[in-house]
Amino acid sequence: MERIDSSDGLDVKQWRGVVLFVGAADSGKSTLARTLWPRVVASHESPAFIDADMGQGTLGPPTTQTLALFSPSYRDAFPPRGRWVRYFVGSTTPRRHMLNTIVGLSLLVREAIRRSDVILIDTTGLVDPDQGGISLKTAKIEILRPHTVVVLEHGDEVSSALGPLEALGTRLVSLPISPDVRKRTLEERRERRQYRFRRYFRNARKMALGKSVPVIGSGNLEPGRLIGILDRRGFLLALAVFESESEDGMVVSSPLGEGRLKSLAAIRLGDIWLDPETGEHGWIPRPRAEAAREGSAGAPEADVIPLQRSREAT
Ligand SMILES: Nc1ncnc2c1ncn2[C@@H]1O[C@H](COP(=O)(O)OP(=O)(O)O)[C@@H](O)[C@H]1O
Ligand SMILES: [Mg+2]
Repeated sequence: MERIDSSDGLDVKQWRGVVLFVGAADSGKSTLARTLWPRVVASHESPAFIDADMGQGTLGPPTTQTLALFSPSYRDAFPPRGRWVRYFVGSTTPRRHMLNTIVGLSLLVREAIRRSDVILIDTTGLVDPDQGGISLKTAKIEILRPHTVVVLEHGDEVSSALGPLEALGTRLVSLPISPDVRKRTLEERRERRQYRFRRYFRNARKMALGKSVPVIGSGNLEPGRLIGILDRRGFLLALAVFESESEDGMVVSSPLGEGRLKSLAAIRLGDIWLDPETGEHGWIPRPRAEAAREGSAGAPEADVIPLQRSREAT
């Protein structure tokens, strides 16, 4: 494992294939990846970027992972302006969705690898071993076999746990977290997700998805549930919020363009409820008070998991 003092010490030119940025929430992963981008562009033909943070990501709405391919017409643009491909994880945290997190990331890398010489991946801040964070990062490294893993940490709290993976051909580079990083409170993180949902759905309209659309996932299609509208390859066409069943099939609220509805192959159930107008959201089942406002029966009180009880930063 290599330790360096600053990002100037990163040998970006040597990077090939997957490069993973790992660190706790607010450790500076996204800032570092963005800062390095011009150097990556200068030393590679066709770099790609994957925002795999479905809680506090910057390229897509919460609950999604986004691949952005490079465009030679906009060389210096960040995020890159080539084709974008999205995967629907269905949750704002990997915690109950480790498998989807890994599957999504693998599919996006498979999509990128044919067209890119290097793929930078910004990950979620879940690194706490007690919450499965180290298992998750280990799984990512085992399946993606990154050329380099850039670890942002105070000491060696993350890299010591991942160190043995260097035996599989990955290089670990540890960088200290900048003393200037700004920590966001859980409330600020929730508000940011809320804002991003609201913005995503600002041009949403009601639409019927047609009859007998295959529904992937288990659970009930209750009003307010977030769903992903998927294409044949399993990538996301658009997010939607389920409203009701009608004679023309299920009615949802979604910003999906009219022309793209014909690409719908299936929908997948998300694990959260969402008010597309306010961006308010939380775990399913939805607390009864919220559901009542929207006119649905809601869940029995005993099953309610208030969002505030989740102390994890997402
Ligand atoms: N090297 C740095 N110097 C000053 N501020 C930074 C630095 N790195 C990150 N920040 C700030 O700290 C906050 C968290 O950084 P961010 O890159 O979003 O972290 P992460 O992606 O790991 O959650 C942001 O407000 C960012 O502007
Ligand atoms: Mg980030």
